[in-house]
Amino acid sequence: MPRGPSVKIQEAGATNTAYAKGIARQPGHRLASWDNGLYRQALISVVTNPRLHCHSTTAILNSPISRLNPMTDSPARFSLHNKRALVTGASRGLGAEIASVLAAAGADLVISGRDPVGLQHTQQTVRQLGRSCHDVLADLRNPEEVLRLADGALEQFGAVDILVNNAGIVHIEDLLSTTLEHWEETQAVNLRAPFLLAQRLVPAMIQQRQGKIINISSVAGVLAIEGHAAYSASKGGLNMLTQTMAAEWGRYNIQANAVAPTVILTEMGQQVWGEASKGEPMKARIPARRFGEPVEVADLVLFLASNASDFICGQVIRLDGGLTVV
Ligand SMILES: NC(=O)c1ccc[n+]([C@@H]2O[C@H](COP(=O)([O-])OP(=O)(O)OC[C@H]3O[C@@H](n4cnc5c(N)ncnc54)[C@H](OP(=O)(O)O)[C@@H]3O)[C@@H](O)[C@H]2O)c1
Repeated sequence: MPRGPSVKIQEAGATNTAYAKGIARQPGHRLASWDNGLYRQALISVVTNPRLHCHSTTAILNSPISRLNPMTDSPARFSLHNKRALVTGASRGLGAEIASVLAAAGADLVISGRDPVGLQHTQQTVRQLGRSCHDVLADLRNPEEVLRLADGALEQFGAVDILVNNAGIVHIEDLLSTTLEHWEETQAVNLRAPFLLAQRLVPAMIQQRQGKIINISSVAGVLAIEGHAAYSASKGGLNMLTQTMAAEWGRYNIQANAVAPTVILTEMGQQVWGEASKGEPMKARIPARRFGEPVEVADLVLFLASNASDFICGQVIRLDGGLTVV
């Protein structure tokens, strides 16, 4: 079979590269080499059937994604193979779940929190999945520790491809009883730390023209809930921070998005909604009539971390069983 054209495709992107792989699997075609190390410069070299000539190359560039073979191409688009991710608050709860799901999809990890035992547990899970995992103890209330965490991740990886700002705290108290200390602690962990981490990590993302920032927000950031004043303000702020990140960094092929879950019965979820007298009425407000599961948050984070979501930028995605539409 004669060797077809070797073509350098600028701006190849995930859609075209995935489609090219689909073409190459068709009879008479073979993918000779593949290098998608840099998003904007995928080197595609396809061996074509002489009867089809080099139409395949043109087709690769112009074909709609609907012609992808979902059975063979989806895994590649959802893969995080060799991506480098930083997940905060990974010592338990949603962060631990997110770390495991990202590792199962192929990512290497830096994880952080304050509890060394919880971090070790997550680290063990990630390593069992065959990925590397480095833990950094850091108290995100302290800006110097936030920056030390970012520098630790850069030292480990060179550049971070995926930043998941997950660590968060809540103090349940009505507005009139909210103390200055709780207010400031909440803004520091939930809002200032994501800002500082992104500010430190994004220059390397810009340089490599690739990055994903996923901020774990809350429905409390879009819906007023009694007793959540400082928390709601921090998550509402995080939503706007996410949109500003998208506005400023989208041009560098960096996608920033927020995930806004309703109740998930982690330690935090238990603390706020664990009592039946509070939890049951809340559940009754949710059209799905149930709370979420940690893995449902992690799956959405996985999607937002993968090339499958490359055109989703600056969104606050509500993961709430319909709570905020009724
Ligand atoms: N569970 C829910 O119902 C729910 C709903 C909507 C949104 N969310 C959001 O989802 C995220 C994860 O929540 P979760 O339910 O998994 O809560 P969680 O079980 O309480 O876990 C919180 C995580 O954040 C870390 N963290 C807290 N304070 C920290 C600090 N000062 N420095 C460093 N790390 C700190 C904790 O680690 P250490 O204790 O080791 O420091 C822990 O790993 C949060 O942003 C939360 O607001 C949760």
